[in-house]
Amino acid sequence: MQITEVKNYDEMSKKASEIIMKRIQDLPKPVLGLATGSTPEGMYKELVQVYVDGKISFSNTTTYNLDEYIGLPREDKNSYRFYMNDRLFSHVDISKEQTNVPNGMAKDLKEECNDYEESIKKSGGIDVQVLGIGVNGHIGFNEPGTSFQTATHVVNLAPSTIQANARFFESEKDVPKQAITMGIQSIMKSKEILLLISGAKKADAVYQLLHGEVSEVFPASILQQHPNVHLIADEAALSKVKENGMRSLR
Ligand code: PGA
Repeated sequence: MQITEVKNYDEMSKKASEIIMKRIQDLPKPVLGLATGSTPEGMYKELVQVYVDGKISFSNTTTYNLDEYIGLPREDKNSYRFYMNDRLFSHVDISKEQTNVPNGMAKDLKEECNDYEESIKKSGGIDVQVLGIGVNGHIGFNEPGTSFQTATHVVNLAPSTIQANARFFESEKDVPKQAITMGIQSIMKSKEILLLISGAKKADAVYQLLHGEVSEVFPASILQQHPNVHLIADEAALSKVKENGMRSLR
């Protein structure tokens, strides 16, 4: 795993956007895996800016988002489709047909999961997957205990995830209890993973990610086995790792 330490959230966002910008410039038909949540918001802002500055075009880019809540219509401001339109898609030259977010309102959720997985495969696979990490080690909505063999599937959200995401809703009881998520296997198939982590509240998770054993109890630990992961983390997120000697990682 390549590790880049940056000072703070803004630097992380800038660095991440530079990497994504380069892939968009270099690849003829880039396929991006995208994430939602607080972590990548700054990166999307930067990407909109480089688009406005004329440095990149998204016209050849296809995107796949990691996950979506079940039961929220796409117009709901808490749906991840809404988030993506609002933070990125509506501000750049990407047609909505090139953007993919699982449909959490699908009648047949299993079919939706299979179609999503098939669509990723048909696109040629994800070139670079942007990823955050939950305080409980989840990636996408693959909660602790998820098999490493999973493709896109329906999940029951862990109480800690519902609690962590309640900040976006009126109250905790409004947070959906289920979601569709790309599976661990889907994520591991990405050619490159850009893992973004910021803030002291993730310091324990970063420590476990880098020093813990590879175990389904801590889903992100599987990333130790991916050949091309670039972690960009800020000082606060790396604080526990550094306390315990980052040298042991090299
Ligand atoms: P966050 O979420 O970026 O809002 O912290 C990350 C995650 O839960 O994967």
